[in-house]
Amino acid sequence: MQPSVTYEGIREEYPPILTLRSDKSICQIALHGAHVLSFIPAESKDLLWISDQAHYREGKAIRGGIPICWPWFGAHPSEDSKPSHGFARISTWEVVRTGTEEGNPYAVLALTTSAETKQLFDYDFLLELKVVASESLQVSLTTTNQDTRSFVITEALHSYFDIADITKVRLSGLEMKSYIDQLQHNHRFRQEGPVTIDREVDRIYQNGDACRIDNPLGIYSVTPTGSRSTVVWNPWIDKARRLSDFSDEAYRRMLCVETANIGDDRVTIAPGESHTIRVTIKKEE
Ligand code: BG6
Repeated sequence: MQPSVTYEGIREEYPPILTLRSDKSICQIALHGAHVLSFIPAESKDLLWISDQAHYREGKAIRGGIPICWPWFGAHPSEDSKPSHGFARISTWEVVRTGTEEGNPYAVLALTTSAETKQLFDYDFLLELKVVASESLQVSLTTTNQDTRSFVITEALHSYFDIADITKVRLSGLEMKSYIDQLQHNHRFRQEGPVTIDREVDRIYQNGDACRIDNPLGIYSVTPTGSRSTVVWNPWIDKARRLSDFSDEAYRRMLCVETANIGDDRVTIAPGESHTIRVTIKKEE
């Protein structure tokens, strides 16, 4: 099969979708949010989880896949009325380039300053997302400061993985790392062994190294570059019930392992400078 990049919709209500296809994998990206919806390596299931109750609408974030949290992660530091996890995931991006590199299909999408973004973030910027689909999925988010002043961002590539059964997951690579527990007044703790999940978990690990998600569907590696935080999130039972776009039982099938720069590790970008955060996701043999 010739590697290809095509436009299609997979449901009527979907915004336009780009599909990167080759013998090695299929990856779908919505222009709404530059949101990677799925990544299916050859002879595998989708590594990413997406909610069957997800909204695909203007102003809403898609629940699942890889939302982009930018230029702030979580609540805005001083203004509660601004959207949670920033505006990149609820904005429509433009496709600036598609093609193949080393036989692998790729796409570059961009979001830049507009009257709407100025209301939320008063700086000139260029944000570019490059997605390359091969045996692995590589997602790189580059922020360029086009303003005359420095600015500060927090950010995340908020990957939702399909792990089949949360009670059987072991997440390794975070052993002996310190983390902030967002459910315990942001107190700091140290991770002893691999992470297992038997309750709501919402933690920010100080980590820039690769993690492995060992689960009934296989072992997925998550390798960051340009990132010094890893968020681990599962809403468990009560929070799942409170989320409008999440079925009550869906917490069993998903785990978020997010490549991020948050808190102490926020990023300052000087005028004319760029910063890239990248994640490579792969199903190991
Ligand atoms: C995680 C946060 O990254 O995203 C959680 O650490 C949050 O606190 C979760 O609940 C989902 O956020 P949202 O805005 O997509 O519901």
